[in-house]
Amino acid sequence: MNTVDSIEARPSGAALGAEIVGVDLAQPLDDAAFARIVELFHRHEVAYFRDQRITPEQHVAFSRRLGELEVHVRQDCLRPGFPELFVVSNIIENGRPIGSQDAGQFWHSDLCYLREPSRASVFYALEVPQKDGKALGDTMFASATAAYDALADDIKARIENLRVVQSYAKGYYSVRRSGPRKPLTAAQQAKTPDIEHPLVRTHPYTGRKCLFVNEGYSARIAGLPQNESESLLAYLLEHATRPEFIYRHNWRPQDLLLWDNCSTQHKAVADYELPLRRHMERATLKGGVPH
Ligand code: OGA
Ligand code: MN
Repeated sequence: MNTVDSIEARPSGAALGAEIVGVDLAQPLDDAAFARIVELFHRHEVAYFRDQRITPEQHVAFSRRLGELEVHVRQDCLRPGFPELFVVSNIIENGRPIGSQDAGQFWHSDLCYLREPSRASVFYALEVPQKDGKALGDTMFASATAAYDALADDIKARIENLRVVQSYAKGYYSVRRSGPRKPLTAAQQAKTPDIEHPLVRTHPYTGRKCLFVNEGYSARIAGLPQNESESLLAYLLEHATRPEFIYRHNWRPQDLLLWDNCSTQHKAVADYELPLRRHMERATLKGGVPH
């Protein structure tokens, strides 16, 4: 276990996604083995390990080895004692949700509305809803590199130097199953102003071009008249999540999955309800300014 030569990727067959086998994250990982995992992750954009019996300490330590971690502003969703772990769950304990109940139910990438969006997220499945022997609550991932590559040349030329406005408020006010949210306070708004990013960004490690738009947070294209912005954005949003760019992950408890927030976007499938329980935990890597 955990020797570089035993580590292998089994590609999903979709545009992105691979299972990495030959790794036990509860055991030590030397630098060569770790570097191999990082290389496979960058190549496949979504990489997962099955059957990982890891503690929250090990989840945090592995994630931190990839880079510096974020602590989410929603304090009520952090795992007690582990501020680097953001809980995504529908479970209510003592009358209180243990985490975010409706995270990611639209297409998005994590923290894309910040000046420095997250580089990647490390997601661990603790409880997965099951019905009639089938796991529910899948997550869909779309490759932003495959989407970019498939654009027609004239569209590539047209969007090359455009910028997109990412808006936290747009995502915040969209429909959710936990019901309408309280308006953002002035202080919250001040922390998450709308921000412009390149519409086509370059991956910091692979150098590949990634289409940086998503349904959840992309509000408009900067500098274009409103009708042009609307029609171009609608085209790009539809294009970015075509079936041929998607890998859909069917979770098993003890999966640890890495997704790249530059080369992919994702969406949670909300097809389960209590009493079917879902409990996932996310470590979120800091990222740099998109270029
Ligand atoms: C997230 C997220 C999707 C899911 O935690 O960032 O989008 O399937 N989760 O829970
Ligand atoms: Mn997310």
